[in-house]
Amino acid sequence: MEVARTGFALPTPDEVEQLYALATSRPPQVEDADVAAVYAALYDLALDRADLVAVTAREVGELVGFGCGHRWHWQEQTDEWSRDLAERLGDDAAQLEGSFAVQLLAVHPRFGRQGLGFELLKQLMVASAASVYWLLTADADTPARRLFRRMGYRPLTLDSEAPNGEPGLILLHG
Ligand SMILES: CC(C)(COP(=O)(O)OP(=O)(O)OC[C@H]1O[C@@H](n2cnc3c(N)ncnc32)[C@H](O)[C@@H]1OP(=O)(O)O)[C@@H](O)C(=O)NCCC(=O)NCCS
Repeated sequence: MEVARTGFALPTPDEVEQLYALATSRPPQVEDADVAAVYAALYDLALDRADLVAVTAREVGELVGFGCGHRWHWQEQTDEWSRDLAERLGDDAAQLEGSFAVQLLAVHPRFGRQGLGFELLKQLMVASAASVYWLLTADADTPARRLFRRMGYRPLTLDSEAPNGEPGLILLHG
């Protein structure tokens, strides 16, 4: 398997959608297929950003792991979801300014529980050259939540909403 950073065979949004759908198609984390489409659409938008950082893992060409993110500056985040988030965070919003937002992390179930998620997130954080990182995850005891806790992410706030409309948890590192 090869793990590569930005600039090296970035996956298409369709590949990312398929991977996320697969990664969330069975317990312990089952999500509606629409959520994969939302994440793929967000990634598609992020492809226009000069500061997009991505890590990919491929096995014989197939995308089996993916993580991406970008710097977070409130004045650039003019979409409705981001404005709502700023409002909900109140004074805490300042902690995210200039940080690195981890947008997406997914591992193919065939390659799960082998440390790939950990490795991809570590590489993504290193490649971002940031000192503060944040992400949004479901407020539930998922493999993702445990991985983030293990890597030192801590809750910033409980009061948020994930892109799937479910309760979300903002986790901060650094
Ligand atoms: C979250 C996700 C990326 C984790 O990927 P992963 O490659 O399985 O992650 P890791 O292997 O690093 O860790 C997962 C588990 O495997 C265990 N593990 C790691 N290496 C192992 C090994 N060699 N042998 C046995 N178990 C191992 C870890 O301890 C961890 O256990 P836990 O869930 O009981 O805490 C993956 O589950 C996923 O794609 N989930 C759906 C999408 C998602 O929720 N993304 C995050 C929000 S965008």
